[in-house]
Amino acid sequence: MARPKPAAKAPKVHQAQLTHTVADFEAAFWPDESPVDNAVVMTMGALHEGHAALIRAARREVGRDGRVAVTVFVNPLQFGPSEDLDRYPRTLEADVALAQEAGADVVFAPSAEEVYPNGTPVVSLSAGPMGERFEGASRPGHFDGVLTVVAKLLHITDPDYAFFGEKDAQQLAIIQRMVADLDFDVEVVGVPTVREADGLALSSRNRYLSEGDREQALALSRALFAGRDAAARGPKAVREAAARVLDDAAGVHLDYLALIDPHDFVEAPDDFQGEAVLAVAAKVGSTRLIDNVRLQVR
Ligand code: PAF
Repeated sequence: MARPKPAAKAPKVHQAQLTHTVADFEAAFWPDESPVDNAVVMTMGALHEGHAALIRAARREVGRDGRVAVTVFVNPLQFGPSEDLDRYPRTLEADVALAQEAGADVVFAPSAEEVYPNGTPVVSLSAGPMGERFEGASRPGHFDGVLTVVAKLLHITDPDYAFFGEKDAQQLAIIQRMVADLDFDVEVVGVPTVREADGLALSSRNRYLSEGDREQALALSRALFAGRDAAARGPKAVREAAARVLDDAAGVHLDYLALIDPHDFVEAPDDFQGEAVLAVAAKVGSTRLIDNVRLQVR
């Protein structure tokens, strides 16, 4: 006689609870003492499919019974005086719906006063020289602000895993370095960039692009793919192939195009071999965009 099959575990429906204070977050994220894995996905809101990929990766890692927190906080410390802090899109209701759909248990959306109760912190973190190149050269102090809030959010959420997008490759490298250098007890996981079918990397800032800007912005991913296609011919060929695409692109005001050693985020020398990041930053219309690809240079 056939043995009855064990009943399949019903898929768990994740209701994402929205919290605004540290106390409410803690009560929601640790409702009991059960020893489950937990993960955090830190965001500045305006969530899109790229964030959904991070949340899904976090859910896969911790399993159906683990806990996933998504933080939504537009961190003033990481914006320069002439940057888009006030204009940065704020779409909390839609963010909670997307986070829930992707598998989050709790959304933590604190005010600036909740995160920085004593005002701008007197003691903060420095990303050091890694934070002064590429993005850091164009945005002085940006990575110090990122690290300071990431450290605080790691303390508040106390996760086993923290997921960050490879789209912000320098940010990911610097956070990995902070965790290693300062002995944070968390595993940092990078998640590949999500792209539109035509190659445009998803970004919360894409919503600022006009139709024409969006068309011109495609030159960024085209340049990166051309560079990646030349990877077998060495660093010089990679740089030249990518630069050719950008030289011919209309409406793209290049900030930098660089082939980077991902470990310490320095420009890869001409005899570099191994895994590298080809990164680009440019202004299209009034919007500054960044993108990168990982490639094996020979
Ligand atoms: O990548 C971002 O959205 C932000 O820099 C982060 C990591 C949430 C810190 O504010």
